[in-house]
Amino acid sequence: MAVTSPHSESVPRHVAIVMDGNGRWARKRFMPRGLGHKAGVDALVKVVQASADRGIGYLTVFAFSSENWKRPEEEVSGLMSLLLVALSKHLTKLKADGVRIRIAGDLANVSEKVRNALLDAEAATVGNARLTLTVAFNYGGRWDIVQACQRAIAAGVAADKLDEAALSRHMAMSYAPDPDLFIRTGGEVRLSNFLLWQSAYAELVFTECLWPDFDADELDRALAVYAQRERRFGDVGSSGQGEGGIGHALSASSSGNP
Ligand code: FPP
Repeated sequence: MAVTSPHSESVPRHVAIVMDGNGRWARKRFMPRGLGHKAGVDALVKVVQASADRGIGYLTVFAFSSENWKRPEEEVSGLMSLLLVALSKHLTKLKADGVRIRIAGDLANVSEKVRNALLDAEAATVGNARLTLTVAFNYGGRWDIVQACQRAIAAGVAADKLDEAALSRHMAMSYAPDPDLFIRTGGEVRLSNFLLWQSAYAELVFTECLWPDFDADELDRALAVYAQRERRFGDVGSSGQGEGGIGHALSASSSGNP
């Protein structure tokens, strides 16, 4: 039975995932890429459950990037169809499990059918608070920064008042804390334009595991790596406290004290 553990400091409040490796997972099995994406949906459903069970409050996944339109038309339309199927198959259970679905991305350029399905999923789960699952769809980190600037200006924020806090309020995920842990599966070591603004101090974990193989055990491995990291946010951190920094080191060595 799933047990929700209370939130502790070593558990990230917000985990962001680049779900990479679906195509290679399929190719290894001599299957079409679309079946890799289908297996990717199954992995996502399990990881959502596991995240909620571990007390993670926010999970954000890169489902379709603003660059993914460059893929063959057949793969793009396959991903759109898969999204519709996945929502109709899993929405009821996600809702019952207390998952709130939110969408981050430019929905102006997606089909009306897909846009409505995404907005309906948001509306259907608006009362849930156990885990917020943000599906980044037609999303790009640079798009997000630009649209935040545009919305801030449209809201009348003056140039000299446009500071980090003001811009954060207009980012697509202004409702969520910044990601603590950024995971990328599939072996590539790059951010690929995901959550550029929000991930300024995220701990990065890259794994060779292909996304369809990512499960609760893999999540636990990433969480264990995260728990070992010392987060300093530009400060010296606990290991540097009390040593007096470079001034102390210089005066200690020049005074001849041990
Ligand atoms: C990257 O793998 C993955 C994607 C571009 C899509 C991720 C989508 C899912 C996990 C399914 C859920 C989302 C929707 C839209 C239904 P890749 O295809 O780049 O893998 P490769 O690097 O091995 O080719």
